[in-house]
Parts: sequence; C-alpha cells; structure tokens
Amino acid sequence: MRFFPTASAFAAITATLLFASASTAATTLNTLEIKGRYFVDSVTGDTFWIKGVDYQPGGDSNFQDGSDPLSDPETCARDIFLFQQLGLNTVRIYAIDPTLDHDECMSLLASAGIYLILDVNTGIYGQNLDRYEPWTTYTESYMNHVFQVIEAFAGYSNTLGFFAGNEVINDDKSAEASPNYVKAVVRDMKNYITNNIKRQIPVGYSAADVLEYRVPLAAYFECGPEEEAIDFYGVNSYQWCGQQTIDSSGYDILVQDYTNFSLPIFFSEFGCNQVLPRTFQEIGTIFSDQFSVVFSGGLVYEYSQESSNYGLVNISSSDGSVQERHDFVALSAAYASVTTSGLSTASATPRPTTCATSYEYINGNTTLPDTPVATMIANGLNSTYNRGKFVDVTTQSTNYTIYDNNGNVISDSTVNEKYSITVSSASAIEQTDKSNSSAVTGASPSSGGSDVASTTGSSPSSTSKSAAISNLVRGSEKIGATAVFAVILGLVFA
Ligand SMILES: *[C@@H]1O[C@H](CO)[C@@H](O)[C@H](O)[C@H]1NC(C)=O
Ligand SMILES: *[C@@H]1O[C@H](CO)[C@@H](O)[C@H](O)[C@H]1NC(C)=O
Ligand SMILES: *[C@@H]1O[C@H](CO)[C@@H](O)[C@H](O)[C@H]1NC(C)=O
Ligand SMILES: *[C@@H]1O[C@H](CO)[C@@H](O)[C@H](O)[C@H]1NC(C)=O
Ligand SMILES: *[C@@H]1O[C@H](CO)[C@@H](O)[C@H](O)[C@H]1NC(C)=O
Ligand SMILES: *[C@@H]1O[C@H](CO)[C@@H](O)[C@H](O)[C@H]1NC(C)=O
Repeated sequence: MRFFPTASAFAAITATLLFASASTAATTLNTLEIKGRYFVDSVTGDTFWIKGVDYQPGGDSNFQDGSDPLSDPETCARDIFLFQQLGLNTVRIYAIDPTLDHDECMSLLASAGIYLILDVNTGIYGQNLDRYEPWTTYTESYMNHVFQVIEAFAGYSNTLGFFAGNEVINDDKSAEASPNYVKAVVRDMKNYITNNIKRQIPVGYSAADVLEYRVPLAAYFECGPEEEAIDFYGVNSYQWCGQQTIDSSGYDILVQDYTNFSLPIFFSEFGCNQVLPRTFQEIGTIFSDQFSVVFSGGLVYEYSQESSNYGLVNISSSDGSVQERHDFVALSAAYASVTTSGLSTASATPRPTTCATSYEYINGNTTLPDTPVATMIANGLNSTYNRGKFVDVTTQSTNYTIYDNNGNVISDSTVNEKYSITVSSASAIEQTDKSNSSAVTGASPSSGGSDVASTTGSSPSSTSKSAAISNLVRGSEKIGATAVFAVILGLVFA
C-alpha cells in the first residue's frame, strides 16, 4: 500500500529528521575538573579514571613543525578507531605544532569519548626549557610558544589538561638548576589561563620516577600559592615487568610514597618492556581499591612501534597502514577487564599552601624567577594565533588499511561517535574578539629515546588556521540540507 503523508504527518517526519540530525549522539562529552585528588566530570560529578595510551607516531624526539598527530583527519580516523578498540578514554601527546588545524581530529576524538592530555613543549630548540641552564631558555619567545599551544587547544572540551614539562628534572644537575623554572612556567601558564581562557584548564608536570626525587619533587610542585602550584602530577614508571605482585614490583612502596599527595596523580607512562610480550598485568593493580584512593589510572607507553620497542601497533612508513601487535591485543583485554565504577576514593589532606624551607635531594628554592611575559599574561597574545574549535566531523572512517594481529584486514573501521559535540557559534565569535584584543634511576623512552635499563623507576620520554568558516554558518547549512532532504523524502513518499 502506498503511503500518502498528510500535512501533519509530513511535518512530523520533518521534525523527526531534524531532531535526528541535530543529535547524532545522545550525550555531550563534559569537561573534566579537579575536586580534591580526583578528576571529576564537571556535570555528573563522577570520578574519572584514566585508561590511556601515549600517542606520538614518529616519536617525540623526531618531532618537527608542519605536521603532528592531530593535523591529518585520515590518520586520526585510523588511530581513533583503534583507540576505541583498546577501550581508551584518554591519550597523551608530547608535541604538537600550535599553528596547524586540529579541529577535525579533536572533534572526532571528543565524539569518540576520548580526552587529551597535552605537553606544551617540543624537542625543537626554543620550545622547551634547558634542564641544566633553564634561565637561557625561559624567554618571551618560549612562553609565546607555550601560550599558542594553550590557545590552540583551550576551545575543545576534551582537553583534559596541559603538562608544563616532562622529566625536566632527571638527574642531580637538573634537580639543582630547574625546579623553580619549571614552577615559573606552571605559574605563567596558570595565570595566562586565568586571564585569557574561559575554562580553568588544569596544568601539571610529568615526572621521571627517580627514587630520590619521588617524594620531595611532588611535594615541591604541590605546595605554595594556588597560582604557582601544579594542578595534577604524572609519574612515568616502568617498574612492573612481567609477572609480579604489588610487593615484588615495588608498587606497594610507590603507592605508599604518594599516599599524602593532595592532588590527582596518575601514571603518565607505564608498561615495562623488559619482559615481552607484555601482558599489562599491573593494570589489575592500578585499577584496584588500594591504588584508586591515590592514583587516577594511567597511560601506557606507547601507541606506535618506535626504536625503543614499546609499540602497540606497527605503522607502515610506506602506505600508512596499521597492524595490531601482540601488545595491542593484550592491552585491549586488560583494559576491557577493568571496572572503574565503584572504585574506592578517599579524601586527601588539603594542599599545603606554604612550602617547606627545603626539600631533600632537590633545590627547593621557592622564589621563582620573574616572568618575561607579564603583558602577554595580562592581555593575551597580541600576534596572530590559532584557537581551535569543534567542527562537524567529515572523516569518520579512514582510507588507510588496518590489519588485526593475525594479518586480516579490518573491513569496517568507522569510529563510533558516542558523543555529540557542540559546534558552537558563541565561541567562534569570542575567538574573533579575543584575537583582536590583542640517569637516572629512571631513564625513559620519552626522555631522549634511551632504553630503559633499570626496573626501579625508569621511563621512556623526555625531549620534546583553521578554516575560518563560522560555526553559525555551518550549523544553518546543516539544518538547511536536512530540510531539503526531508522535502525530497516527502516527494518520494508522495
Ligand atoms: C602521611 O601523613 C601522615 C600524617 O601526617 C604521616 O604520619 C605519614 O608519615 C605520611 N606518609 C608519608 C609517606 O609521607
Ligand atoms: C611489526 O613490525 C615488526 C618489525 O618490522 C615485525 O617483526 C612484525 O612482524 C610486525 N607485525 C606485528 C604484528 O608485530
Ligand atoms: C632562588 O631563585 C631566584 C630566582 O631564580 C634567584 O634569584 C635566587 O637567587 C634563588 N635563591 C637561592 C637561595 O638560590
Ligand atoms: C606584543 O607583545 C610583546 C610582548 O608582550 C611586545 O614586545 C610587543 O611590542 C607587542 N606588540 C604589539 C603590536 O603590541
Ligand atoms: C587518504 O586520503 C588522504 C587525503 O585525501 C591522502 O592524502 C592519502 O594519500 C590517502 N591515503 C590512502 C592510503 O589512500
Ligand atoms: C579590533 O577591533 C576594533 C574595534 O572593534 C576594530 O576597530 C579593529 O579594526 C579590530 N582590529 C583588527 C585587527 O581586527
């Protein structure tokens, strides 16, 4: 029987189509904020546990301006599909170019339900602090780079936080020279955000897990006036290798050492590779009540196979195809077995607002160097910069080939867009106004690519315009297109 829609039936169909189009996914991804020693969803208040991976194809020490992990929608669609297979809710990226367009990738990442923790530095000279002579690199042009990174990512609700530094302090010399410079960068970032960004995005530090500095460094960064203290702390730890227990791995001491830390703390890198293949057995402990009262989860080092041999996937340099390695399958199973709802929490002692007069093993000078960028902090960047914003996602499925661990092609690699993103005209208008106003015991793969030698706290990591289409216009185009579609459908029905 043919269906002749009445006027009201047609209106109902149109309304349904419009509604369906306006809400492709049911819920929006809320921003996270800090409550005591935990990250919480700013709307629901639920505690947030990081199930993450470190993500820097090519390696952070080889990073060069001109492309970065969030600048190519095709590779983002490829990798975000795999992030979902891993069960991730967070990735960490070590180096980005703030002048590139990250809108598509960040929009897809958000709609996939994944937050970003971003390091503001790169390995490029002038874009990081020299750990031994920080006064030579703590300059106006360096801070200008840092603020450009903040501006580029502040507009995305899935930006969880920024790392002001990664393993800057990793030996006696850097522990003498650098602490108060790192804290000065933290201070400048926090003041910049307070004055120029709508959301108070948290700022943290990612530490090499060097035993001597473990307790004093965390205490030094946590203390003092609000504007100088970190908001969260990351620990790069590689001490659980192969089959261990909480005691044999030393995790018992690790969690004990941070019991009194007042802020969110998590593993910014974990996943020892001295026993291969990895099974990620430590994940059961990290997401247990004993750890959850202190630690908010962690990030496995690292997504792509690089020379340091921590990869979850192989990325082909010739055709951009990706193959899941054994560790990918193991991590996917380990994260799938984690239940975070109902994990125990406990209140911490309040953050110490005054610092001690000295800290063991590190230079605990609490007098910070004066900022070289007082005007920028007060008024915002006065040069051209890029402020990212959510856009309608156009690439949900990559054109690159993805192979599973057995070498079979995964035929449907469409990212599951679980959350709707707010493509907001308000923020676009604000942007316009704004831009107008003007050896460690723990050597680490992320710290220069050296391989990990010790089981006692080592880590792999330390070195390292958007299309001005108004969102308002895009939004109305979308509704217009849907309405046209509805009319066509109406004609077909007729
Ligand atoms: C934590 O604080 C309690 C109470 O002040 C103290 O007894 C304990 O030694 C502290 N633990 C560490 C590891 O600092
Ligand atoms: C990944 O690359 C390595 C080195 O090229 C190779 O040995 C391995 O077979 C590749 N595939 C997987 C699934 O590990
Ligand atoms: C502490 O750091 C400030 C700023 O870098 C410096 O001026 C001062 O001399 C330092 N104090 C000590 C005792 O090293
Ligand atoms: C921009 O700010 C920098 C540093 O605050 C300052 O040196 C420069 O003169 C400013 N330029 C303009 C055009 O205001
Ligand atoms: C995928 O698409 C991008 C952008 O259109 C293109 O540069 C790339 O070569 C394509 N890759 C493959 C494997 O088709
Ligand atoms: C900045 O805004 C003022 C006042 O709205 C306007 O006169 C000026 O042309 C704008 N400058 C730029 C560079 O957009």
